[in-house]
Amino acid sequence: MTLAIHVEHLSKTFKRYQPRRYRTLKESLINGEMFERRLSEQVEAVRDVSFSVETGETFGIIGRNGAGKSTLLKLLCGILKPTSGRIAVNGRVAALLSLGVGFHEQMSGRDNVFLNGLVLGLAPREIRARFDDIVTFAELEDFIDAPVWTYSTGMRMRLAFSVAVNVDPDILIIDEVLAVGDVAFTEKCLARMREFQTRGKTLLLVTHDIATMTAWCRRALWLDHGQVRAIGTPSDVAQAYLNELAGASSAAAINAVA
Ligand SMILES: Nc1ncnc2c1ncn2[C@@H]1O[C@H](COP(=O)(O)OP(=O)(O)OP(=O)(O)O)[C@@H](O)[C@H]1O
Ligand SMILES: [Mg+2]
Repeated sequence: MTLAIHVEHLSKTFKRYQPRRYRTLKESLINGEMFERRLSEQVEAVRDVSFSVETGETFGIIGRNGAGKSTLLKLLCGILKPTSGRIAVNGRVAALLSLGVGFHEQMSGRDNVFLNGLVLGLAPREIRARFDDIVTFAELEDFIDAPVWTYSTGMRMRLAFSVAVNVDPDILIIDEVLAVGDVAFTEKCLARMREFQTRGKTLLLVTHDIATMTAWCRRALWLDHGQVRAIGTPSDVAQAYLNELAGASSAAAINAVA
């Protein structure tokens, strides 16, 4: 058994965004400074997370909004640096993160394909060789020379997905984005992902859709307030997660009535 991803005691802390407040003239004279100093609050987006993903495995991550899923994926593909902990990744990673990440708005689709290809580790000649396949799969032949800011959400997703699968990564990381495609394109993406699985590649999926997770994943992880709450079979993890959600919503209903 080889590991595609191994994470040990991984944490990521952000500074919470806080606007600076100007003092009144009187306050400034008393304190000698124009700005009020605020203690910078921290957000622990990922806290002491440890897990491994085997090569060839499809692994799911679920959790509520703000649980730290996207932050964890960004740490895995090197977009963010960990505050502490260790990450080992074995193979070339391509990531489809939240839409917009990775595209330069003013540049054309064509230039973005080249730039993304370079970032994913391809040589310019390799990108040229795959360029037509990328554009054809994305069905963006008529738009490839237009700047990306003119693209719809679905068009961005098509281009991002097409680049990611056509660079033939060893590990494909997908953060929810499939939901924005139309039915025909989603089918195409799912077919590519199945092919990817059968070729023994590693897939990491973040999804809010429990049915997708149980259908696709061999194992899953539930992330809650940045921490691992459960790792196991998708059905066990989904059950634990849904039980907690049901508990939370009935508590909210009781509070609303009270
Ligand atoms: N760059 C940043 N600066 C400050 N805080 C951040 C930053 N990125 C994320 N956070 C915070 O980290 C926490 C986790 O965010 P993250 O985007 O990882 O959640 P998520 O599980 O992907 O949520 P969702 O299901 O909504 O996509 C949130 O509290 C968020 O506000
Ligand atoms: Mg997210």
